[in-house]
Amino acid sequence: MSSVKFSAKAWNTTATRLAVLIVIVVQPIGPGAGWTQEPVQPRINEEFAKQEKIYRRRGADVPGSYVTNRGLSDYAEVLPTGFCDALGSLGSSDRWLDIGAGEGQAILDYYAPQDDAVPAEKCGGQQQAARLGDDRIQYLSGKRLRHYSREELGKFRIITDVYGGFTYSENLSRFLETVLSLLEIGGAFYTVLPSVHLEDGTDKLGTWYLTELVDAASRPVKVCSWLKQTTCTKVTCESKSDWDAPTQLIKIRKVCSDVSVPTLKIVEYMAGAPPGRRFQLEPQR
Ligand SMILES: C[S@@+](CC[C@H](N)C(=O)[O-])C[C@H]1O[C@@H](n2cnc3c(N)ncnc32)[C@H](O)[C@@H]1O
Repeated sequence: MSSVKFSAKAWNTTATRLAVLIVIVVQPIGPGAGWTQEPVQPRINEEFAKQEKIYRRRGADVPGSYVTNRGLSDYAEVLPTGFCDALGSLGSSDRWLDIGAGEGQAILDYYAPQDDAVPAEKCGGQQQAARLGDDRIQYLSGKRLRHYSREELGKFRIITDVYGGFTYSENLSRFLETVLSLLEIGGAFYTVLPSVHLEDGTDKLGTWYLTELVDAASRPVKVCSWLKQTTCTKVTCESKSDWDAPTQLIKIRKVCSDVSVPTLKIVEYMAGAPPGRRFQLEPQR
């Protein structure tokens, strides 16, 4: 279980106005009941079991690439343009959900009194949060995101995922469906995906890809092309070809309620931090 650094006051309080809620997933992964087809990769369950061990490692055993304490300024750097402005424009009843929040440092920074705040590259929302006080955070852990009921979580204006479920999930379309179901109409999901085929094609030759998509005929599909087939959303992709790994910054605004995410099935999974994943689009009905 990841450490919970909030005071009892902070995380026992039911939020009344601005609420920030954090979900950390520590449940075993695996195909689960929703899967109708056998994965193509033999012994994929062994990779899921290895991944589970990575999540459970603590202290010196944690892989160096498995960072769990990024602060708000890190979030500002790795999330799409406009994230900080969106945070700054949250109204008094608006809510932010950070999925796969690790130690929750970004949200702690958001709530930090101004003097203690991270010195550089502050996000616009910080001052506002400090005014609102520190009693509006909930830190939830122990279940997978989809196992929290809609009633339990409510709806959110902003949802973020920084190298969390979007990077690690073995069921990406179901994960995204759950995220979008928790978003208000007009709200936005901000995330980032490393080592992918970039929308603008600027990724360099010889790249080692971690997340790959193919269509039903096994032809490559870019993550952003798949995302843009999701109904009732407006998807914006920013490409970072000069980062260590070609990285796609993704913003998904929900514009109406009838959201439908084209289904992906996992065909390969290689445990790691992050894991390697290959998905196949189900044939369109
Ligand atoms: C590398 S840490 C990132 C933590 C934090 N966002 C940061 O940047 O410091 C990955 C986080 O994602 C969570 N996670 C892993 N798989 C997940 C999944 N399938 N769905 C949601 N969260 C997941 C882990 O529990 C962990 O909190």
